[in-house]
Amino acid sequence: MTKLGILLSGRGSNFQAIADQVAAGNVPAEIAIVIANRPDALGLESARERGLKAILLPSKGLDRESYDRQLIAALREVGVEWVVLAGYMRLLSAEFIRAFPQRILNIHPSLLPAFPGLDAQHQAFDYGVKVSGCTVHFVDEHLDHGPIVMQAAVTVANDDTPESLSERILVEEHRIYSESLRRLLTEEWRIEGRRVLFSPSIG
Ligand code: GAR
Repeated sequence: MTKLGILLSGRGSNFQAIADQVAAGNVPAEIAIVIANRPDALGLESARERGLKAILLPSKGLDRESYDRQLIAALREVGVEWVVLAGYMRLLSAEFIRAFPQRILNIHPSLLPAFPGLDAQHQAFDYGVKVSGCTVHFVDEHLDHGPIVMQAAVTVANDDTPESLSERILVEEHRIYSESLRRLLTEEWRIEGRRVLFSPSIG
């Protein structure tokens, strides 16, 4: 079974959605470890309640390179093969990206390349877009930037607020993150330039 390592910084609802799909047998993987970089990350507690190995590795005050070395060591110790960022609000170092080539995923609450960075749903709302959504992508050294695995669109209604829009985007986030993992772990795929191409299965 493929071993996943989840990194999170906060609420952890994307982690929970993935853990549910793993538990239901829809994503053929095992969550080997959950790591939070902030002591107040709620996701850490819910991981422990599920009986998963969950640790706090505080990043405060540490430079990116030395913190990421700790992360790599903790992930390697339990044999992690795929790294899943679930609301992990820190850029990863080049060394980290090189440690897990084509095996790091992120979810972002906008249709990238629109609105990278913090508070993407508010950015999209304030800009006045009629359609926003979310993106699952491979992680590279740039913020919210790597090759796109899946996207889902969400229509913005007249009576939306940033909060109501965020809620509907979150429903789609939970759906496409597990679906992306399921496809990447069960189907043939390759990356050509920026394009993630799934091959139709044969036979
Ligand atoms: C999610 O909306 C996720 O897309 C976003 O943080 C939230 C975490 O929620 N991530 C980013 O903005 C990454 N640039 P969660 O902790 O409940 O999964």
